Amino acid sequence: MTSTRLEITRPDDWHLHLRDGDALGSVIGHTAQRFARAIVMPNLKPPVTTVAQAEDYRARIMTALPPGARFQPLMTLYLTEDTPVEEIARAKDSGSVFAVKYYPAGATTNSQSGVRELSRVYPVIEAMARHQLPLLLHGEVTDAQIDIFDRERVFIERHLMPLRERFPELRMVLEHITTRDAVDFVRAAPANVGATITAHHLLLNRNALFQGGIRPHNFCAPILKRETHRAALLQAATNGDAHFFLGTDSAPHIRAAKESDCGCAGVYTAHAAIELYAEAFEQAGKLDQLEAFASFHGADFYRLPRNQDRIVLERTAWTVPEEYPLAGATCKPMRAGESIAWSVVGHTAH
Ligand code: NCD
Ligand code: ZN
Repeated sequence: MTSTRLEITRPDDWHLHLRDGDALGSVIGHTAQRFARAIVMPNLKPPVTTVAQAEDYRARIMTALPPGARFQPLMTLYLTEDTPVEEIARAKDSGSVFAVKYYPAGATTNSQSGVRELSRVYPVIEAMARHQLPLLLHGEVTDAQIDIFDRERVFIERHLMPLRERFPELRMVLEHITTRDAVDFVRAAPANVGATITAHHLLLNRNALFQGGIRPHNFCAPILKRETHRAALLQAATNGDAHFFLGTDSAPHIRAAKESDCGCAGVYTAHAAIELYAEAFEQAGKLDQLEAFASFHGADFYRLPRNQDRIVLERTAWTVPEEYPLAGATCKPMRAGESIAWSVVGHTAH
């Protein structure tokens, strides 16, 4: 396909880190320029564990929005072993909380309050199944004996398959999938199981971690995998299968936190998110499938209306800045100093 202009329904980001305070103010504009809505991750310090905290956080996001921006944050709760069962009904009734996020303790940035033993939260999960509130899974085991590249596959075998059997009615999203194993599991599941896929996992394989030297800005959780997995993800995202939808997992960290002897996980992509996805879809010869993946499948899964307005992309290359401001310091974005083939050139109101 050789399109040079692409007009699609305005997309949504179904997995995003907006942070808080000054960092929130630094990054929110990038997302609001492109996306109508985003599922906002709750891994703040301390984590967002109650509806009251989620609503306060939502108010801070609204205040941080640039003037005139039209953007709707969809809030989530951070599941802990102390989450009360009653919080699920409160979340469902709130109209502001749309899902609950499971982090295995120790898997990634700010996950120390996560769940150690899944069975301890079964009563809460049962309430989620009853109230049809989706569970969002960071699908990795954290045992020291399991190779880091096998963490997702082993999570599926050990935890996800038993969870599906125990709670067949539970709506769940396997977040930021990175392997063929995850693609196969989700594709074979019924419609109450979905998966998000990031732009960086569609565009990069694990070689990007070691290109001429160690590349901390390509380090994220789950870690990039080998090329066969990237190819499986690209195929899943671009073949029109409604199980799969856009979730950037854009995760800003200041440079010093990533360029360190123990660098944080997270790739910042919000500055060019839909443009990067357009590149990946073009690479697969499937630009005609971008709209379904970016603008339809996620809204349908969350039972929310599809957006009415549209955005226009053009095949005009631009160079990404070396860094963006982040909370008084800077953040190095994906493709820093390099070119991106697509640009967002406009919006059309409904
Ligand atoms: C995320 C972050 O920095 O908050 N990092 C990442 O590598 N994706 C946490 C997460 O989603 O795992
Ligand atoms: Zn994330």
